[in-house]
Amino acid sequence: MFDQFYTTLESLGIVPVVVLDKVEDAAPLAHALMAAGMKSAEVTFRTACAAECIAAMAEAEPEMCVGAGTVLTVEQVEQARAAGAKFIVSPGYNEDVVKHCIDIELPVLPGTVTPSEVTAAENLGLKVTKFFPASQYGGLNTIKALAAPFVGHRFMPTGGVSTANVEEYLSSSAIIACGGTWMVKPALFADGDFSKVEQIAREAMDVVKKVRG
Ligand code: 3PG
Repeated sequence: MFDQFYTTLESLGIVPVVVLDKVEDAAPLAHALMAAGMKSAEVTFRTACAAECIAAMAEAEPEMCVGAGTVLTVEQVEQARAAGAKFIVSPGYNEDVVKHCIDIELPVLPGTVTPSEVTAAENLGLKVTKFFPASQYGGLNTIKALAAPFVGHRFMPTGGVSTANVEEYLSSSAIIACGGTWMVKPALFADGDFSKVEQIAREAMDVVKKVRG
């Protein structure tokens, strides 16, 4: 299940976690990320315009893998799907959300930070989960400890991933991809200039290339 998406996720390497207040920013942000070779975005349902932004980014860059983040309810899954989201990310493990995504065959990455949560995800057939907030839950050390008994299970850490540690995370086989906001912080494009986003995203993709070839 979701094997094709997992292959895509591995090739993406880094998934920018986007919080957008204005739909007008969606298209230029998509263009800047794609120009940098960062071909995905997790648009979080932390702002009212999230669904509209998903649709706007996908329309601006049809090749981009645009998904929804901070998805807490089945209703939000449906809003995201209607907007064209290609995947769903949740900060925690909500079985209703996970089961619904499986039912509608929409790849889902729920958050799991404990052996019990990974067990629950594995029991439903998920081979990859989010690990959030990564720094606070022990970062790569904890992920490696979890990956040992759950052979083959892989994680997407987010929360505290940055230029300082992304290379170390990506170097572990337990990591399928990293997520984070460091290249898409709203302050970087508050003036309407997305060149700083492009530059930081490009530097991040250089790390992906260095580690993964
Ligand atoms: C997330 O939702 O994944 C996090 O808010 C990203 O955390 P960061 O801002 O530390 O990258």
